[in-house]
Amino acid sequence: MARRISLTQYLVEQQREHGHIPAELRLLIEVVARACKTIAISVNKGALGEVLGSAHTENVQGEVQKKLDIISNEVLIEANEWGGHLAAMASEEMDSIHVVPNRYPQGEYLLLFDPLDGSSNIDVNVSIGTIFSVLRKVGHHRGVSEQDFLQAGRAQAAAGYCVYGPQTMLVLTVGEGVAMFTLDREMGSWVLTADQVQLPAETKEFAVNMSNMRHWAPPVKRYIDECLAGKEGPRGKDFNMRWVASMVADVHRILTRGGVFIYPWDKREPDKPGKLRLLYEANPMSFLIEQAGGMATNGSQRILDIVPTKLHERVSVMLGSKNEVERVTDYHREQA
Ligand code: AHG
Ligand code: MN
Ligand code: MN
Repeated sequence: MARRISLTQYLVEQQREHGHIPAELRLLIEVVARACKTIAISVNKGALGEVLGSAHTENVQGEVQKKLDIISNEVLIEANEWGGHLAAMASEEMDSIHVVPNRYPQGEYLLLFDPLDGSSNIDVNVSIGTIFSVLRKVGHHRGVSEQDFLQAGRAQAAAGYCVYGPQTMLVLTVGEGVAMFTLDREMGSWVLTADQVQLPAETKEFAVNMSNMRHWAPPVKRYIDECLAGKEGPRGKDFNMRWVASMVADVHRILTRGGVFIYPWDKREPDKPGKLRLLYEANPMSFLIEQAGGMATNGSQRILDIVPTKLHERVSVMLGSKNEVERVTDYHREQA
């Protein structure tokens, strides 16, 4: 039988080979992975665990929270606050940052997460996930504030997601490529099942919520129109569409076999740059995609170069196979 490499072994070896994963970061990643196992158990229980349905509360973005949004948020906070590796956490489900309480030692890392991505899919038994991003607290000032989180995505020390699908998988980058781990439920361990993942530069598959087409800006509409025109159109090939409506599942497909994911600005809310959140959705996913040889922009700029101005900042997202993201970004440039 092939030798199995666990998440712990992978991280220890990364630390040895590249020397850039301090013990604290390794602990942090393992604690996040453990929390994801706990969330996976709730997700799998579904109605039997009484975790489905609405919590009848709203988050800071004005979205109605599902029970699992809140449960997952609590699991991640409880798992991470006592270890001494973190200074503070931020989440889609919390208005402001959660500073590690005084009774615990404070570490130098900052953790951001979307505890449950794809909330509309929870109750219909479709893949959902958890997305996370790790930053270092820069500077030697005492205390921690929201300002410490407002760093460009290229500063991330690690990022990843866990997808709760037919298999539960953890996908991770510490800046040395992308590794995928599958949860062995009986053993309770994460086993390395793909390393140095690379996505193809060419693709014939796009992921976008087509029902919003009439609200898009001309460059995005042009790009999708040309895909839809197929063999007879300017692209000279037929495209296929896939849209799970869980960013985690759509990005997972793209990392696995290529494709392009677009969640653009739309004119219904012109002042909002997009639907997805920069710090805990777009940044970690862009880090993974770039590490796998893909590209991620907001139409005019590399996502990882955007300097955030607020915690829950939104952004327009185009990511995936390089040639396609380049093309749709070029269409924006030609228009500007
Ligand atoms: P969340 O459940 O964390 O709010 O995120 C959902 C996001 C993302 O996962 C997905 O790509 C998108 O919302 C789908 O939204 P629509 O179905 O409204 O297009
Ligand atoms: Mn989300
Ligand atoms: Mn969410």
